[in-house]
Amino acid sequence: MKKLCFASILFIVQFELLLSFASVANALIPLKPVVLGLVKPKTIVSKTTTIWLPRLSTSYYLKTCPVVEQVIQEKMAYWFHQDNSLAASIIRLHFHDCAVRGCDASILLNHKGSERRAHASRTLRGFQVIDDIKAELERRCPRKVSCADILTAAARDATKLLNGSFWEVPFGRKDGRISLSKEADMVPQGRENITTLIHSFDSLGLSILDLVTLSGSHTIGRSTCYSIQHRLANYQGTGKPDPTLDAKYLKNLTRSCKWSSNYVNLDVTTPKTFDIEYYSNLGKKKGLLSTDQALYSDPRTSPFISVMATQPDLFFNQFAVSMVNLGNIVVPGPSSETEVRLNCNYAN
Ligand SMILES: *[C@@H]1O[C@H](CO)[C@@H](O)[C@H](O)[C@H]1NC(C)=O
Ligand SMILES: *[C@@H]1O[C@H](CO)[C@@H](O)[C@H](O)[C@H]1NC(C)=O
Ligand SMILES: *[C@@H]1O[C@H](CO)[C@@H](O)[C@H](O)[C@H]1NC(C)=O
Repeated sequence: MKKLCFASILFIVQFELLLSFASVANALIPLKPVVLGLVKPKTIVSKTTTIWLPRLSTSYYLKTCPVVEQVIQEKMAYWFHQDNSLAASIIRLHFHDCAVRGCDASILLNHKGSERRAHASRTLRGFQVIDDIKAELERRCPRKVSCADILTAAARDATKLLNGSFWEVPFGRKDGRISLSKEADMVPQGRENITTLIHSFDSLGLSILDLVTLSGSHTIGRSTCYSIQHRLANYQGTGKPDPTLDAKYLKNLTRSCKWSSNYVNLDVTTPKTFDIEYYSNLGKKKGLLSTDQALYSDPRTSPFISVMATQPDLFFNQFAVSMVNLGNIVVPGPSSETEVRLNCNYAN
């Protein structure tokens, strides 16, 4: 009964969303990436090049590397116990990967001019975790498991270690050979307006519901003060702080943010617990990033926020769904531009 109720609320909200979405859809640029369903096949052969499109499947490594999930899970548990802040970092790293050229581990390539070297990537962490998992998998099943699949499963396991949602990860991604720093700067940074955010998610094939749900990952993790400095004083040239910031919270933030390189928690009330406090904080003007707070006030996103803020089961279920949507973003391209990388830092 409870489940049914959640489902129907979600349906109504989704329906309203569709209506409002339909009106802007025509204005949006055509989609380039595609979000794959579980059973979408194949390789399309054109006259000149072979276009690669993966067949993602939860049993992809059943024959070639049956230990893959066990290895990733054990390594993630090990690193989490060393430093539990790595869980949020891995989830963020996965997002930054999938938001550029789909989930192809382009964010891991470590060369001059790569995404990883971009200004927007400077606070990304957790690369050593992926390197460690990759090294172990190369010992156990050489040349089989892509870095993109490792990062995707690691983000799932990070969520699980936080006692968050669980979902089955479809596998079969390939690693890209192209990584450009200017593309990394297109990933949302926390200062965009909602229209820009919606367009940016839509161009990845993700919905407004995915946007609101994936923002819920801010229930854990931290941000640098650099991302919120503009809210603390002289907001938009008014000479005053951002009026959508609670006064006490503003005081705390001002105290914590002596330097732009200082860190503050994204979820002010329960920063280490995977829960719906992030959403209820928005209703109390305690969203950290201006993008967080704007989700609460914008009519296109606010209906979802109020549902999430009161229905933990719904958030947990939808988080799993939206993370699969995120992980299934692929950009079809020539086969010559994909491979299973031997070292996640370098193309073969
Ligand atoms: C997850 O739940 C277990 C069992 O209740 C608990 O021991 C552990 O501390 C929790 N972990 C986190 C990160 O909250
Ligand atoms: C949102 O931001 C974009 C890019 O900065 C800008 O062009 C647009 O006018 C803004 N829209 C609104 C409604 O403020
Ligand atoms: C401000 O900081 C104090 C002390 O760290 C804390 O007890 C309080 O809950 C914080 N208030 C807000 C609104 O963040």
